[in-house]
Amino acid sequence: MITGGLGHLGSQLIRDFSTCVGVDELVVVDNLATQRYCSLFDLSSPVPIRLIESDLLDAPLTRVFDGAACVIHLAALTEPELSLKKPREFTELNYQLTQCVVEACVSSATDLIFPSTTSVYRNNYDTSALEPGSSLLTGQTPYAAGKLSEERLVNEQMTNAGLSFQILRLGTLCGFSAGMRFHTAINRFCWQAVNGQALTLYDGTRELVRPYLTLTDASSLVGQLLLGNRKDSSVANAVTLSLPLASVLDLLERECEIRSIPLRTELITAPAPHMNHVFIHSSDSLASQLEPISRLRLAIRETLNRLSRI
Ligand SMILES: NC(=O)c1ccc[n+]([C@@H]2O[C@H](COP(=O)([O-])OP(=O)(O)OC[C@H]3O[C@@H](n4cnc5c(N)ncnc54)[C@H](O)[C@@H]3O)[C@@H](O)[C@H]2O)c1
Repeated sequence: MITGGLGHLGSQLIRDFSTCVGVDELVVVDNLATQRYCSLFDLSSPVPIRLIESDLLDAPLTRVFDGAACVIHLAALTEPELSLKKPREFTELNYQLTQCVVEACVSSATDLIFPSTTSVYRNNYDTSALEPGSSLLTGQTPYAAGKLSEERLVNEQMTNAGLSFQILRLGTLCGFSAGMRFHTAINRFCWQAVNGQALTLYDGTRELVRPYLTLTDASSLVGQLLLGNRKDSSVANAVTLSLPLASVLDLLERECEIRSIPLRTELITAPAPHMNHVFIHSSDSLASQLEPISRLRLAIRETLNRLSRI
């Protein structure tokens, strides 16, 4: 059961999980507010995918969740920078969405996977800050502060109900999916590069280290949790690699050189002063045969390849 399953992450999960042994049906609730019909194109799923086109606040969630092995709750307003302009709308609506999902999980006794964000860390990650109630967590934007409140809600209500839950603090997602967007760092740079636009960098951030998560890693991690490796309830970081912006640009530059795409940059003012340095170690659970840096390079390469005719 996936809420917001037509978005950047969800469109990949519905493809990957529909071919997993042990999955009998995928149910997606999405209100299509972001018009990502393209997420449903060319599905070749061996298991049925049922779309419930509805706002989460209007859907009979307890009935819909009943019998599901797990709910993956992705539906949210998801633009951190927009949350600076409309902080209340963001935090209140996202909280309401998570509240109705948690209530329905409790009523239907269903486990929950909840994606939070590494932006809940104001500065460097500290292991004592994993607890959702930790005073070391403040959130860098209203969006991230809202995620913290939602984490607390999930933690309290699911624990009280004796249900299992996983909170995953995702690094910035990058890489291709059918429902992808280009509003965050690496994906936006790929879009700007192939379109001959200057890469817009926030002034003074070249050395800023931020955590990134490839879509492939995100999907494999959620898959592991879903299909059996679910531990007891936990909060975890999900990160392929933390890198300074300058290193991200190096990776992109090398990929662009191969394609004879010239790069130029333009410095702009950051929308908020608190886009801070956050270093988080690559997640152990994301071990793979490829080095994290190679996985990041592949995410960039595939995105550029998909746009190669522009
Ligand atoms: N993209 C990232 O870099 C990133 C990083 C950290 C955490 N996350 C979190 O991961 C989750 C998925 O992110 P994403 O990038 O796939 O988001 P997305 O915006 O691409 O997708 C969200 C989906 O939810 C749907 N939706 C929104 N409001 C809804 C409502 N009221 N009822 C039903 N459907 C609704 C939208 O139509 C959309 O298809 C979000 O919770 C996001 O906060 C994302």
